[in-house]
Formats: sequence, C-alpha cells, structure tokens
Amino acid sequence: MVNKITVVGAGNVGATTAQRIAEKELARTVVMVDIADGIPQGKGLDQWESAPIELFDSRVIGTTGYEETAGSDIVVITAGIPRKPGMSRDDLLNTNAGIVGAVAAEVAKTSPKAILIIVSNPLDVMCYVAMKVSGFPRERVIGMAGILDTARFRSFIAEKLDVSVRDIQAMVLGGHGDTMVPLISYTSISGIPITQFLSKEELEPLVVRARNGGGEIVKYLKTGSAYYAPSSGAVQMVEAIVNDQKRILPCAAWLEGEYGMKGLFLGVPVKLGRKGMEKVVEIALSADEQAALAKSADAVREPMSVVKL
Ligand code: NAI
Ligand code: 2OP
Repeated sequence: MVNKITVVGAGNVGATTAQRIAEKELARTVVMVDIADGIPQGKGLDQWESAPIELFDSRVIGTTGYEETAGSDIVVITAGIPRKPGMSRDDLLNTNAGIVGAVAAEVAKTSPKAILIIVSNPLDVMCYVAMKVSGFPRERVIGMAGILDTARFRSFIAEKLDVSVRDIQAMVLGGHGDTMVPLISYTSISGIPITQFLSKEELEPLVVRARNGGGEIVKYLKTGSAYYAPSSGAVQMVEAIVNDQKRILPCAAWLEGEYGMKGLFLGVPVKLGRKGMEKVVEIALSADEQAALAKSADAVREPMSVVKL
C-alpha cells in the first residue's frame, strides 16, 4: 500500500478505477478530481460508503481542486472529452491535449514525485503531452492501452477455444488504434503456441475484433466508450507499481532507440515496478511484425506533429 493515489477525471473510467484501487487497498487515500463540481465529491462519498460492505480501509475522497492530491505517489489521468458531432480528430486531439496538459501542470506542482499513468485518448499523444508539460522522466509517465488491447484479444481466444482466460498469454503492441499489432508468434496457451490450436485463417477474425474492440463497445453503448476493462488495465499497472511486482506488461512508453525508434510513445513490453517504467523489454520481431510496428509508429507521429502544446 502507498500513501496516496489520485485519479483525475471522475467519469466512467476514472470512477471505476478509483473504486477498484480502493477495493484492493492499494493506497491509504484515494483522491478523485474532476471539474464537474459535485460529481467527484458524490462518487467519492458513495465509494467510501461501500467500504464497510466491501471491507476496505482505503479512504476515498472527491474534489475539484488539487490541494487534497498533494504528495500523491501515483496519479492516473482519465480526464478528457469524447468526440462530439462536428468535431474533427484534430479538434478532439487539441481539446484533450489542453485538458491533459492543464492536469499534468497541476500534478507536477502538487505531486512532483508522482508516477503518471495516462488513460485519456488519443492515448499515445496524451502521454507525450503529459511528459512534456510535467517535465517528468520517461520512467514516470506510462500509458495504459496495450493491457486492454491484449485483454480483449485474450478474451476472444478464450471464448473461441472454450478455455480459461488465465492460461492465455498474448502481447499486443503499437499505438492504441487501428494499427495496433497483435503478436501471433508470442500468443500461447499455457506455453503451447496458439498455432497448434487455431489456423491463421481462424485467428484473423480475432485479431480484427481486437483491433476494433473499442469501437465494438461504443456501438453498443452509443453515448460512451468502454470502462470496465480499461479501468482493470489501469489498476493492473497501479498494482504492479505499488507492490513492486516487476511485471512485464504491454504499456505505452517513451522510446529512446528501442525497436529502432525514438521520440514517441508506443505500446511495447515494459517492466513495471516501484520506480515506474523500469525497462523497455526488447523482443525479437519478424520482419512483418517490425513493419507493422513501424506503420503504427507513423500513425502516432502524425497527430503528434499537429498537437498544440
Ligand atoms: P467520461 O466522459 O465518462 O469522463 C471524463 C471525465 O473527465 C468527465 O467526468 C469530465 O468532467 C472530466 N474532465 C474533463 N476535463 C477535466 C479537467 N480539466 N480536469 C478534471 N476532469 C476533467 O469519459 P471516460 O469514459 O471516463 O473516458 C475518459 C478518457 O479515457 C477518454 O479520453 C477516453 O477516450 C479514454 N479511454 C482510454 C482508453 C485506453 O485504452 N487508453 C480506454 C477507455 C477510455
Ligand atoms: C477503447 O479502446 C475508447 O480507447 C477506448 O475502448
């Protein structure tokens, strides 16, 4: 357990993340911050009132300011707006960049030693904004997307083969978007290569479904996007850091030459421990996988080049 974890944005992802952190007792105090006055206070109180039933002692509070967040060990940023009718991707990009930038500036002042976990979209570019504005080193700015994309892929494989999700290992790399790269060569069931269970043709629809996983949920919900699995992904990262687990998980990390790329955030396997992103783990990729990762990097660089900081 650490002393304090802040979740910025008390919407669907933020509030679910805060509740999960509290239920796992990962921090003594969990602070939710949102600009919508009443929402973080009300949700925080409601969550705290679930403590005697769920049996956790983490104190959850909600606020619109940053005083209560001071000295946070970890800050999860989920603040942002979804795309609205008439808004271009660039409009959304710059609106959310403004929000994430403002949040990162506040956090840098009040919690200068915090580790930032970014969830807001477009994910890879928002990580860049948070790192630039906070001035934090790359070890302390990490993006959540690969865990979610990988979990979706794993859940589809489990469903198709009627086996436990526990036994399915997989790794989805790249940017959080259409160009993400599910690595078939690193997909296995209890160590047995997936190709012994499914042919290339049978795997393809599962890959496509994972790539479009976010959109599939939006189509059902109509007014919002996924939040149960995304919050699980963010909390898995928090837990790995709080408990110094040294887990190897796919996260968005700032590359400094790894995979032959530098100067951008991209989903790659990293080691997560008490210091944050402790290492980018480089794995061998086939020529096709490397080319797909390079294409995904291009899809991240393009919005990076138009974002206003
Ligand atoms: P939501 O709309 O339910 O919540 C967003 C919250 O941010 C709102 O409560 C809003 O008032 C708040 N907010 C806006 N500006 C703020 C500011 N300056 N300071 C503090 N709070 C502010 O949205 P939801 O579903 O929680 O999603 C949040 C973000 O996470 C979105 O950008 C979404 O696209 C992204 N997301 C990313 C995923 C990933 O894999 N990286 C997965 C799911 C969502
Ligand atoms: C998702 O993949 C919207 O990025 C979000 O569900």
